[in-house]
Amino acid sequence: MSETTWVYIKDLKQHLGSKVEIRGWVRNKRSSGKVAFLQLRDGTDFVQGVVEKTVVGEETYKIIRSLKIESSVIVRGTVNKDERAPSGVELAVDEFEPIYLNKEDYPIAIKDHNVDFLMKYRHLWLRSKRQYHIMTIRTQIIKALREYYFNNGFLQIDNPIFTGSIGESAGNLFELDYYDYGKVYLAQTGQLYLEAAALAYGKVFDFGPTFRAEKSKTRRHLIEFWMNDAEMAFYHHDDNLKLQEEFVSYIVQSVLENCREDLDAIGRDTTFLEKVKPPFQRITYTEAVEMLQKDGFKIKWGSDFGTPEEIHITKQFDKPVFVEKFPKAAKAFYMEPDPDNPEVVLCADLLAPEGYGEIIGGSERIWDKDLLVKRIIESGLDPDEYKWYLELREYGSVPHSGYGIGLERTVCWICGLEHIRESIPFARTLYRVYP
Ligand code: 4AD
Ligand code: MG
Repeated sequence: MSETTWVYIKDLKQHLGSKVEIRGWVRNKRSSGKVAFLQLRDGTDFVQGVVEKTVVGEETYKIIRSLKIESSVIVRGTVNKDERAPSGVELAVDEFEPIYLNKEDYPIAIKDHNVDFLMKYRHLWLRSKRQYHIMTIRTQIIKALREYYFNNGFLQIDNPIFTGSIGESAGNLFELDYYDYGKVYLAQTGQLYLEAAALAYGKVFDFGPTFRAEKSKTRRHLIEFWMNDAEMAFYHHDDNLKLQEEFVSYIVQSVLENCREDLDAIGRDTTFLEKVKPPFQRITYTEAVEMLQKDGFKIKWGSDFGTPEEIHITKQFDKPVFVEKFPKAAKAFYMEPDPDNPEVVLCADLLAPEGYGEIIGGSERIWDKDLLVKRIIESGLDPDEYKWYLELREYGSVPHSGYGIGLERTVCWICGLEHIRESIPFARTLYRVYP
Protein backbone atom coordinates (compact mmCIF):
# COMPACT_ATOMS: atom_id res chain seq x y z
CA MET A 1 0.00 0.00 0.00
CA SER A 2 1.26 3.46 -0.89
CA GLU A 3 2.05 6.32 1.50
CA THR A 4 -0.47 8.80 0.15
CA THR A 5 -1.62 11.93 2.01
CA TRP A 6 -5.19 11.92 3.32
CA VAL A 7 -6.87 15.06 1.99
CA TYR A 8 -10.37 16.46 2.57
CA ILE A 9 -12.40 16.98 -0.58
CA LYS A 10 -12.80 20.71 0.05
CA ASP A 11 -9.00 21.06 -0.20
CA LEU A 12 -8.53 18.96 -3.35
CA LYS A 13 -7.94 22.02 -5.55
CA GLN A 14 -4.67 22.66 -3.73
CA HIS A 15 -3.42 19.22 -4.83
CA LEU A 16 -3.87 19.41 -8.63
CA GLY A 17 -1.72 16.78 -10.33
CA SER A 18 -0.80 15.01 -7.07
CA LYS A 19 -1.85 11.65 -5.78
CA VAL A 20 -4.04 11.85 -2.68
CA GLU A 21 -6.21 9.69 -0.45
CA ILE A 22 -9.88 10.38 0.25
CA ARG A 23 -11.79 8.76 3.10
CA GLY A 24 -15.53 8.87 2.79
CA TRP A 25 -18.71 7.43 1.38
CA VAL A 26 -20.10 6.62 -2.05
CA ARG A 27 -22.97 9.02 -2.55
CA ASN A 28 -23.97 7.70 -5.96
CA LYS A 29 -22.56 5.62 -8.75
CA ARG A 30 -22.93 4.78 -12.43
CA SER A 31 -20.83 2.36 -14.38
CA SER A 32 -20.35 0.60 -17.66
CA GLY A 33 -18.28 -2.48 -18.48
CA LYS A 34 -15.05 -0.46 -18.48
CA VAL A 35 -15.41 2.68 -16.39
CA ALA A 36 -17.27 3.64 -13.21
CA PHE A 37 -18.11 7.13 -11.95
CA LEU A 38 -18.35 7.39 -8.16
CA GLN A 39 -19.86 10.42 -6.48
CA LEU A 40 -17.77 10.57 -3.34
CA ARG A 41 -18.43 12.62 -0.21
CA ASP A 42 -16.42 13.02 2.95
CA GLY A 43 -18.44 15.56 4.92
CA THR A 44 -16.53 18.55 3.58
CA ASP A 45 -17.71 18.40 -0.03
CA PHE A 46 -18.47 16.12 -2.98
CA VAL A 47 -16.23 14.99 -5.85
CA GLN A 48 -16.44 12.57 -8.74
CA GLY A 49 -14.01 9.66 -8.80
CA VAL A 50 -13.38 7.98 -12.14
CA VAL A 51 -12.36 4.31 -11.97
CA GLU A 52 -11.19 2.37 -15.00
CA LYS A 53 -11.35 -1.39 -14.94
CA THR A 54 -7.91 -1.71 -16.51
CA VAL A 55 -6.40 0.39 -13.69
CA VAL A 56 -7.92 -1.29 -10.60
CA GLY A 57 -8.17 -4.80 -12.02
CA GLU A 58 -11.03 -7.24 -12.61
CA GLU A 59 -11.67 -8.23 -8.94
CA THR A 60 -11.87 -4.70 -7.50
CA TYR A 61 -13.91 -3.49 -10.44
CA LYS A 62 -16.47 -6.18 -9.71
CA ILE A 63 -16.83 -4.90 -6.13
CA ILE A 64 -17.19 -1.35 -7.38
CA ARG A 65 -19.92 -2.30 -9.84
CA SER A 66 -21.94 -3.98 -7.11
CA LEU A 67 -21.39 -1.19 -4.55
CA LYS A 68 -24.47 -0.03 -2.68
CA ILE A 69 -24.98 3.69 -2.11
CA GLU A 70 -23.46 5.09 1.11
CA SER A 71 -20.93 2.29 1.52
CA SER A 72 -17.77 3.64 3.13
CA VAL A 73 -14.50 3.58 1.23
CA ILE A 74 -10.97 4.84 0.99
CA VAL A 75 -9.75 5.71 -2.48
CA ARG A 76 -6.43 6.97 -3.78
CA GLY A 77 -5.80 8.69 -7.07
CA THR A 78 -4.66 11.74 -8.97
CA VAL A 79 -6.44 15.09 -8.74
CA ASN A 80 -7.31 16.42 -12.19
CA LYS A 81 -8.87 19.69 -13.26
CA ASP A 82 -12.50 19.41 -14.40
CA GLU A 83 -14.09 22.68 -15.40
CA ARG A 84 -17.58 21.15 -15.53
CA ALA A 85 -17.54 19.84 -11.95
CA PRO A 86 -18.89 22.14 -9.20
CA SER A 87 -15.73 21.46 -7.20
CA GLY A 88 -13.56 22.18 -10.27
CA VAL A 89 -11.72 18.85 -9.93
CA GLU A 90 -12.17 15.12 -10.27
CA LEU A 91 -10.18 12.17 -9.05
CA ALA A 92 -8.65 9.52 -11.35
CA VAL A 93 -8.84 6.59 -8.94
CA ASP A 94 -6.16 3.91 -9.04
CA GLU A 95 -6.59 2.29 -5.61
CA PHE A 96 -9.92 1.36 -4.05
CA GLU A 97 -10.25 0.07 -0.49
CA PRO A 98 -13.71 -0.85 0.81
CA ILE A 99 -14.25 -0.04 4.52
CA TYR A 100 -17.86 -1.14 4.98
CA LEU A 101 -19.85 -2.53 2.08
CA ASN A 102 -23.55 -2.07 2.80
CA LYS A 103 -25.54 -5.25 2.51
CA GLU A 104 -28.93 -3.56 2.30
CA ASP A 105 -30.08 -0.94 -0.19
CA TYR A 106 -29.83 2.55 1.26
CA PRO A 107 -33.30 3.67 2.40
CA ILE A 108 -32.99 7.16 0.94
CA ALA A 109 -32.77 7.16 -2.83
CA ILE A 110 -31.55 10.13 -4.81
CA LYS A 111 -35.08 10.68 -6.10
CA ASP A 112 -37.78 12.48 -4.12
CA HIS A 113 -39.31 11.24 -0.88
CA ASN A 114 -41.97 12.92 1.16
CA VAL A 115 -40.76 14.89 4.16
CA ASP A 116 -42.31 12.62 6.80
CA PHE A 117 -40.32 9.74 5.40
CA LEU A 118 -37.17 11.84 5.33
CA MET A 119 -37.71 13.02 8.93
CA LYS A 120 -38.00 9.40 10.04
CA TYR A 121 -34.61 8.81 8.45
CA ARG A 122 -33.15 12.14 9.56
CA HIS A 123 -30.06 10.33 10.88
CA LEU A 124 -29.33 9.34 7.26
CA TRP A 125 -31.00 12.27 5.50
CA LEU A 126 -28.31 14.53 6.98
CA ARG A 127 -25.88 12.93 4.51
CA SER A 128 -27.73 14.36 1.50
CA LYS A 129 -26.18 17.15 -0.50
CA ARG A 130 -28.87 19.69 0.24
CA GLN A 131 -28.66 19.00 3.97
CA TYR A 132 -24.90 19.39 3.85
CA HIS A 133 -25.30 22.87 2.34
CA ILE A 134 -27.98 23.88 4.86
CA MET A 135 -25.84 22.76 7.81
CA THR A 136 -22.85 24.61 6.33
CA ILE A 137 -24.90 27.80 6.19
CA ARG A 138 -26.22 27.22 9.71
CA THR A 139 -22.65 26.91 10.94
CA GLN A 140 -21.68 30.15 9.18
CA ILE A 141 -24.63 31.96 10.80
CA ILE A 142 -23.49 30.78 14.25
CA LYS A 143 -19.93 31.83 13.48
CA ALA A 144 -21.02 35.29 12.29
CA LEU A 145 -23.28 35.74 15.29
CA ARG A 146 -20.46 35.13 17.75
CA GLU A 147 -18.03 37.16 15.65
CA TYR A 148 -20.36 40.15 15.75
CA TYR A 149 -20.57 40.09 19.54
CA PHE A 150 -16.88 39.48 20.09
CA ASN A 151 -16.00 42.32 17.68
CA ASN A 152 -18.36 44.66 19.53
CA GLY A 153 -17.32 44.22 23.14
CA PHE A 154 -19.93 41.73 24.40
CA LEU A 155 -19.25 39.07 27.03
CA GLN A 156 -20.73 35.61 26.54
CA ILE A 157 -22.91 34.43 29.42
CA ASP A 158 -23.91 30.76 29.55
CA ASN A 159 -27.30 30.52 31.19
CA PRO A 160 -29.03 27.64 32.96
CA ILE A 161 -31.71 25.56 31.29
CA PHE A 162 -33.48 24.72 34.57
CA THR A 163 -35.19 27.89 35.75
CA GLY A 164 -37.29 28.76 38.79
CA SER A 165 -38.77 31.97 37.37
CA ILE A 166 -40.84 31.90 34.19
CA GLY A 167 -38.88 33.87 31.58
CA GLU A 168 -41.54 34.79 29.08
CA SER A 169 -45.13 33.66 29.72
CA ALA A 170 -46.96 30.91 31.55
CA GLY A 171 -48.61 29.45 28.44
CA ASN A 172 -46.11 27.05 26.96
CA LEU A 173 -43.78 25.74 29.66
CA PHE A 174 -42.16 22.39 30.27
CA GLU A 175 -42.33 21.61 34.00
CA LEU A 176 -40.10 19.23 35.91
CA ASP A 177 -39.70 18.14 39.51
CA TYR A 178 -36.54 19.51 41.03
CA TYR A 179 -35.74 17.97 44.43
CA ASP A 180 -37.01 20.09 47.35
CA TYR A 181 -38.00 23.00 45.14
CA GLY A 182 -40.86 21.17 43.48
CA LYS A 183 -41.65 22.63 40.08
CA VAL A 184 -39.01 24.16 37.84
CA TYR A 185 -39.18 24.95 34.14
CA LEU A 186 -37.07 24.44 31.06
CA ALA A 187 -35.79 27.82 29.86
CA GLN A 188 -37.97 29.73 27.38
CA THR A 189 -35.27 32.39 27.07
CA GLY A 190 -32.07 33.37 28.87
CA GLN A 191 -33.24 36.96 29.12
CA LEU A 192 -33.77 37.37 32.85
CA TYR A 193 -30.28 36.06 33.63
CA LEU A 194 -28.81 38.22 30.90
CA GLU A 195 -30.37 41.27 32.52
CA ALA A 196 -28.41 40.45 35.68
CA ALA A 197 -25.27 40.00 33.60
CA ALA A 198 -25.84 43.27 31.68
CA LEU A 199 -25.86 45.16 34.98
CA ALA A 200 -22.61 43.36 35.79
CA TYR A 201 -20.75 43.67 32.47
CA GLY A 202 -22.58 46.17 30.23
CA LYS A 203 -23.09 44.25 26.99
CA VAL A 204 -23.73 40.51 27.11
CA PHE A 205 -25.14 37.68 24.99
CA ASP A 206 -26.10 34.06 25.41
CA PHE A 207 -26.69 31.29 22.91
CA GLY A 208 -28.33 28.03 23.81
CA PRO A 209 -31.31 25.69 23.59
CA THR A 210 -34.71 27.00 24.67
CA PHE A 211 -38.02 25.21 25.05
CA ARG A 212 -41.62 26.02 24.24
CA ALA A 213 -44.46 23.57 24.68
CA GLU A 214 -46.05 24.81 21.45
CA LYS A 215 -49.26 22.90 20.81
CA SER A 216 -49.51 24.21 17.27
CA LYS A 217 -48.03 22.36 14.35
CA THR A 218 -46.71 25.05 12.03
CA ARG A 219 -43.83 25.57 9.62
CA ARG A 220 -42.24 28.03 12.04
CA HIS A 221 -42.46 26.39 15.47
CA LEU A 222 -40.13 23.97 17.16
CA ILE A 223 -40.46 22.61 20.68
CA GLU A 224 -36.73 22.93 21.26
CA PHE A 225 -34.82 25.63 19.39
CA TRP A 226 -31.66 27.68 19.69
CA MET A 227 -32.00 31.23 20.86
CA ASN A 228 -29.45 33.98 21.08
CA ASP A 229 -30.38 36.71 23.55
CA ALA A 230 -28.46 39.96 23.91
CA GLU A 231 -28.83 42.57 26.64
CA MET A 232 -27.29 46.03 26.91
CA ALA A 233 -27.18 48.34 29.94
CA PHE A 234 -28.06 52.01 29.29
CA TYR A 235 -29.56 51.12 25.87
CA HIS A 236 -32.97 52.56 25.06
CA HIS A 237 -35.47 51.29 22.50
CA ASP A 238 -33.81 53.14 19.57
CA ASP A 239 -30.31 51.96 20.47
CA ASN A 240 -31.68 48.42 20.65
CA LEU A 241 -33.15 48.56 17.12
CA LYS A 242 -29.97 50.10 15.68
CA LEU A 243 -27.91 47.28 17.14
CA GLN A 244 -30.31 44.65 15.79
CA GLU A 245 -30.23 45.97 12.23
CA GLU A 246 -26.44 46.07 12.27
CA PHE A 247 -26.25 42.59 13.76
CA VAL A 248 -28.68 40.96 11.32
CA SER A 249 -27.01 42.69 8.35
CA TYR A 250 -23.63 41.44 9.52
CA ILE A 251 -24.88 37.86 9.62
CA VAL A 252 -26.53 37.99 6.20
CA GLN A 253 -23.53 39.65 4.52
CA SER A 254 -21.19 37.14 6.15
CA VAL A 255 -23.23 34.24 4.73
CA LEU A 256 -23.27 35.87 1.28
CA GLU A 257 -19.50 36.29 1.43
CA ASN A 258 -18.63 32.84 2.72
CA CYS A 259 -21.40 30.52 1.50
CA ARG A 260 -22.06 31.56 -2.09
CA GLU A 261 -21.66 28.00 -3.40
CA ASP A 262 -23.94 26.58 -0.71
CA LEU A 263 -26.67 29.13 -1.45
CA ASP A 264 -26.40 28.38 -5.18
CA ALA A 265 -26.47 24.63 -4.55
CA ILE A 266 -29.80 24.84 -2.67
CA GLY A 267 -31.23 27.19 -5.29
CA ARG A 268 -31.51 30.24 -3.05
CA ASP A 269 -32.24 33.42 -5.02
CA THR A 270 -30.20 36.00 -3.09
CA THR A 271 -31.75 39.17 -4.57
CA PHE A 272 -33.46 40.08 -1.31
CA LEU A 273 -30.58 38.98 0.89
CA GLU A 274 -28.20 41.36 -0.94
CA LYS A 275 -30.38 44.27 0.22
CA VAL A 276 -30.09 43.43 3.92
CA LYS A 277 -28.15 46.50 5.11
CA PRO A 278 -29.05 49.14 7.69
CA PRO A 279 -31.32 50.96 8.14
CA PHE A 280 -34.43 48.75 8.29
CA GLN A 281 -37.86 50.30 8.05
CA ARG A 282 -40.00 50.68 11.17
CA ILE A 283 -43.76 50.69 11.45
CA THR A 284 -45.80 50.77 14.60
CA TYR A 285 -48.17 48.00 15.59
CA THR A 286 -51.02 50.47 15.18
CA GLU A 287 -49.96 51.30 11.61
CA ALA A 288 -49.61 47.60 10.84
CA VAL A 289 -53.15 46.91 12.12
CA GLU A 290 -54.54 49.77 10.00
CA MET A 291 -52.76 48.38 6.94
CA LEU A 292 -54.06 44.86 7.61
CA GLN A 293 -57.63 46.09 8.10
CA LYS A 294 -57.41 48.09 4.87
CA ASP A 295 -56.27 44.91 3.09
CA GLY A 296 -59.24 42.90 4.38
CA PHE A 297 -57.87 41.21 7.53
CA LYS A 298 -60.30 40.97 10.46
CA ILE A 299 -57.69 41.81 13.13
CA LYS A 300 -58.69 44.14 15.98
CA TRP A 301 -56.35 46.53 17.78
CA GLY A 302 -55.05 44.69 20.84
CA SER A 303 -54.48 41.17 19.58
CA ASP A 304 -51.16 39.74 18.45
CA PHE A 305 -50.50 38.85 14.81
CA GLY A 306 -50.93 35.34 13.54
CA THR A 307 -48.82 33.84 10.78
CA PRO A 308 -51.03 35.07 7.89
CA GLU A 309 -50.94 38.66 9.20
CA GLU A 310 -47.17 38.55 9.64
CA ILE A 311 -46.65 37.17 6.15
CA HIS A 312 -48.82 39.90 4.68
CA ILE A 313 -46.80 42.59 6.45
CA THR A 314 -43.43 41.20 5.33
CA LYS A 315 -44.60 41.11 1.71
CA GLN A 316 -44.94 44.93 1.74
CA PHE A 317 -41.19 45.38 2.32
CA ASP A 318 -38.11 44.13 0.54
CA LYS A 319 -35.91 44.22 3.65
CA PRO A 320 -36.50 43.09 7.23
CA VAL A 321 -38.97 45.42 8.95
CA PHE A 322 -39.46 46.31 12.61
CA VAL A 323 -43.00 46.34 13.94
CA GLU A 324 -42.77 48.32 17.16
CA LYS A 325 -44.89 49.44 20.11
CA PHE A 326 -47.35 46.59 20.60
CA PRO A 327 -50.22 46.83 23.10
CA LYS A 328 -48.88 45.88 26.51
CA ALA A 329 -51.51 43.13 26.91
CA ALA A 330 -50.17 41.32 23.83
CA LYS A 331 -46.60 41.15 25.13
CA ALA A 332 -44.53 39.90 28.08
CA PHE A 333 -44.60 41.46 31.57
CA TYR A 334 -41.12 43.02 31.55
CA MET A 335 -41.55 45.52 28.71
CA GLU A 336 -41.20 49.26 29.39
CA PRO A 337 -44.31 51.33 28.61
CA ASP A 338 -44.03 54.02 25.96
CA PRO A 339 -43.95 57.36 27.85
CA ASP A 340 -46.05 58.90 25.04
CA ASN A 341 -48.74 56.22 25.31
CA PRO A 342 -48.58 53.79 28.25
CA GLU A 343 -51.04 51.42 26.54
CA VAL A 344 -48.20 50.32 24.26
CA VAL A 345 -44.71 49.11 25.15
CA LEU A 346 -41.24 49.93 23.81
CA CYS A 347 -40.79 46.65 21.98
CA ALA A 348 -40.24 45.48 18.43
CA ASP A 349 -40.52 42.28 16.46
CA LEU A 350 -38.17 42.06 13.51
CA LEU A 351 -39.94 40.43 10.56
CA ALA A 352 -37.85 38.84 7.82
CA PRO A 353 -38.98 39.50 4.24
CA GLU A 354 -40.27 37.08 1.60
CA GLY A 355 -42.98 35.85 3.93
CA TYR A 356 -40.66 34.57 6.68
CA GLY A 357 -41.93 36.76 9.50
CA GLU A 358 -40.67 37.17 13.06
CA ILE A 359 -37.05 36.27 13.69
CA ILE A 360 -36.37 38.64 16.62
CA GLY A 361 -38.42 39.74 19.61
CA GLY A 362 -36.98 42.47 21.82
CA SER A 363 -37.75 45.45 24.04
CA GLU A 364 -36.64 48.02 26.52
CA ARG A 365 -37.07 46.55 30.01
CA ILE A 366 -38.97 47.98 32.96
CA TRP A 367 -36.33 49.24 35.39
CA ASP A 368 -38.63 50.66 38.07
CA LYS A 369 -39.27 48.06 40.75
CA ASP A 370 -42.84 49.01 41.68
CA LEU A 371 -44.02 49.04 38.10
CA LEU A 372 -42.35 45.69 37.48
CA VAL A 373 -44.08 44.11 40.50
CA LYS A 374 -47.40 45.46 39.26
CA ARG A 375 -46.86 44.00 35.79
CA ILE A 376 -45.78 40.62 37.20
CA ILE A 377 -48.99 40.41 39.20
CA GLU A 378 -51.15 41.62 36.29
CA SER A 379 -49.63 38.86 34.17
CA GLY A 380 -50.71 36.20 36.65
CA LEU A 381 -47.17 35.48 37.87
CA ASP A 382 -45.92 35.25 41.45
CA PRO A 383 -43.57 38.09 42.56
CA ASP A 384 -41.99 35.73 45.12
CA GLU A 385 -40.44 33.77 42.26
CA TYR A 386 -38.88 36.99 40.94
CA LYS A 387 -37.19 38.11 44.14
CA TRP A 388 -33.71 38.06 42.63
CA TYR A 389 -34.90 39.64 39.38
CA LEU A 390 -36.58 42.45 41.32
CA GLU A 391 -33.39 43.05 43.31
CA LEU A 392 -31.73 44.08 40.04
CA ARG A 393 -34.08 47.08 40.30
CA GLU A 394 -32.95 47.81 43.90
CA TYR A 395 -29.21 47.95 43.36
CA GLY A 396 -28.02 50.35 40.68
CA SER A 397 -31.01 49.90 38.41
CA VAL A 398 -30.56 51.44 34.95
CA PRO A 399 -32.55 51.57 31.73
CA HIS A 400 -31.59 48.59 29.61
CA SER A 401 -32.76 46.79 26.50
CA GLY A 402 -32.29 43.53 24.68
CA TYR A 403 -33.63 41.00 22.24
CA GLY A 404 -33.71 37.34 21.32
CA ILE A 405 -33.20 35.89 17.84
CA GLY A 406 -34.34 32.39 16.90
CA LEU A 407 -31.52 30.58 15.09
CA GLU A 408 -33.73 28.17 13.16
CA ARG A 409 -36.08 30.92 11.95
CA THR A 410 -32.98 32.76 10.73
CA VAL A 411 -31.60 29.67 8.98
CA CYS A 412 -34.99 29.12 7.31
CA TRP A 413 -35.08 32.65 5.99
CA ILE A 414 -31.48 32.85 4.81
CA CYS A 415 -31.66 29.42 3.15
CA GLY A 416 -35.17 30.04 1.78
CA LEU A 417 -36.55 26.86 3.43
CA GLU A 418 -40.21 26.00 3.43
CA HIS A 419 -40.23 24.34 6.82
CA ILE A 420 -38.28 24.89 10.03
CA ARG A 421 -37.62 21.16 10.54
CA GLU A 422 -34.90 21.22 7.86
CA SER A 423 -33.02 24.04 9.62
CA ILE A 424 -31.84 22.04 12.67
CA PRO A 425 -30.03 18.68 12.70
CA PHE A 426 -32.64 16.86 14.79
CA ALA A 427 -35.92 18.75 15.04
CA ARG A 428 -38.15 18.41 18.09
CA THR A 429 -41.71 18.95 16.96
CA LEU A 430 -45.10 18.04 18.39
CA TYR A 431 -45.00 14.58 16.81
CA ARG A 432 -41.33 13.68 16.73
CA VAL A 433 -38.65 12.74 19.27
CA TYR A 434 -36.89 10.07 17.15
CA PRO A 435 -34.25 10.14 15.80
O1 4AD B 1 -40.23 36.54 20.78
P1 4AD B 1 -39.68 35.60 21.82
O2 4AD B 1 -40.64 34.75 22.54
O3 4AD B 1 -38.83 36.52 22.79
C1 4AD B 1 -38.24 36.14 23.95
O4 4AD B 1 -38.20 35.02 24.39
C2 4AD B 1 -37.49 37.25 24.61
N1 4AD B 1 -37.30 36.90 26.02
C3 4AD B 1 -36.17 37.46 23.92
C4 4AD B 1 -35.38 38.59 24.53
O5 4AD B 1 -35.85 39.71 24.52
N2 4AD B 1 -34.21 38.30 25.04
O6 4AD B 1 -38.60 34.65 21.13
C5 4AD B 1 -37.50 35.19 20.44
C6 4AD B 1 -37.33 34.53 19.10
C7 4AD B 1 -38.52 34.72 18.16
O7 4AD B 1 -38.47 35.96 17.51
C8 4AD B 1 -38.34 33.56 17.21
O8 4AD B 1 -37.34 33.83 16.25
C9 4AD B 1 -37.79 32.47 18.11
O9 4AD B 1 -37.24 33.12 19.24
N3 4AD B 1 -38.85 31.55 18.54
C10 4AD B 1 -39.03 30.31 18.02
N4 4AD B 1 -38.35 29.64 17.08
C11 4AD B 1 -38.75 28.39 16.78
N5 4AD B 1 -39.78 27.76 17.40
C12 4AD B 1 -40.48 28.39 18.36
N6 4AD B 1 -41.47 27.76 18.99
C13 4AD B 1 -40.11 29.73 18.71
N7 4AD B 1 -40.55 30.63 19.62
C14 4AD B 1 -39.78 31.73 19.48
MG1 MG C 1 -42.02 37.02 19.87
